[in-house]
Amino acid sequence: MKTVLFVSLLTATTAAHAIDVSPYRPGQVLNAEQAKELQQRYKSREQQAWKTPGSVNDIKKHENSELILYGVQVLDKTVATIGPQVKDSSKRYSGNSLNCTSCHLQGDTQLPGTKYDALPFTNVANDYPQFRARSMSIVTTAARVNGCMLRSMGNGRELPLDSKEMQGILAYFDWLAEGTKKDQAMQGTGVPAFDLPDRKADVAAGKKVYRLNCLACHGEKAAGMKAPDYKETGMYAFPPLAGNDSFNDDAGMSRLIKAAQFIRVNMPFGTNSKSPVLTVEQAYDVAAYVLSLPRSRREGREKDFPDANFRPAD
Ligand code: HEC
Ligand code: HEC
Repeated sequence: MKTVLFVSLLTATTAAHAIDVSPYRPGQVLNAEQAKELQQRYKSREQQAWKTPGSVNDIKKHENSELILYGVQVLDKTVATIGPQVKDSSKRYSGNSLNCTSCHLQGDTQLPGTKYDALPFTNVANDYPQFRARSMSIVTTAARVNGCMLRSMGNGRELPLDSKEMQGILAYFDWLAEGTKKDQAMQGTGVPAFDLPDRKADVAAGKKVYRLNCLACHGEKAAGMKAPDYKETGMYAFPPLAGNDSFNDDAGMSRLIKAAQFIRVNMPFGTNSKSPVLTVEQAYDVAAYVLSLPRSRREGREKDFPDANFRPAD
């Protein structure tokens, strides 16, 4: 067992880096000029077509299947595997009641982060290391995962690089990107941008949109619907969008534009970007309503985005 894990750790960590970030190194803090140059290099990559992901059965045929499937479990059953109430207290990495798949939605084959335009993981192995303005540094895939651990997962803890959890996630990302062009971007990653309404978001109007389109699943005050065994497991039937069991105030989803973009093409649940249900205006206002509700605070968030010129508009 020990040797097997050791061998798979080696394969997972030696996977070729996708973008050539030289002469810089992952982890290095860049000045504004260097950051612009690297961002330009990143943006000028060609874009390959969306890759339709395989299924669990395809993973089962893979030589690294045990580790990859554990990665799938961490992403899909996050609360049950690394949540704040799991039996083995050393595994309590995540700080809330969300799964990674609450936001990185499942596609047709039900694997985590495989839905087009829903923050998919399909090209992550090729998109990192990457310059990130939040830290003004070059961030590895593992560091990006931990960015979500500290924010999207409430006030969670970082997964150690050599943990089976992190190695499983990285092995899954490598599997997803098998057969893709390593030096290219991909269609359908992230969430699609749209032109913002030329006005401030309207929280009161957003509340009305919420009551009509979201309340049935996400409940009063967007507190979610708890599962019957919530007390023992911390699990929800429908995830909370606010409160201490949801993402904290420093998460990507806490940014108005990002949240509006996600909601517009993915909610109400079952929506996709080919046939959005909400108008741009409704998505913008309902995101503002959700983000006006209380949620946990992240200590130290004021240290993010040290260079004002690289700060996102929202
Ligand atoms: C509350 C929603 C939410 C949850 C839950 C969440 N994430 Fe994320 N994640 C985001 C958003 C939003 C982004 C994009 C942020 C941005 O563009 O700055 C993101 C980005 C990422 C990326 C980079 C993707 C890319 O295309 O560059 C990775 C990797 C990632 N998350 C991993 C995870 C993992 C692993 C978990 C579970 C431990 C997780 N996330 C849970 C919202 C979430
Ligand atoms: C039919 C039920 C349903 C409706 C209606 C619905 N959602 Fe969701 N929503 C879900 C489910 C289920 C998930 C988690 C997906 C998963 O776990 O696969 C989710 C996830 C989310 C997330 C990311 C995870 C989190 O907890 O923050 C946001 C944000 C969100 N929904 C906002 C909305 C908004 C805004 C509306 C109304 C416009 C809406 N949803 C309508 C079922 C629904």
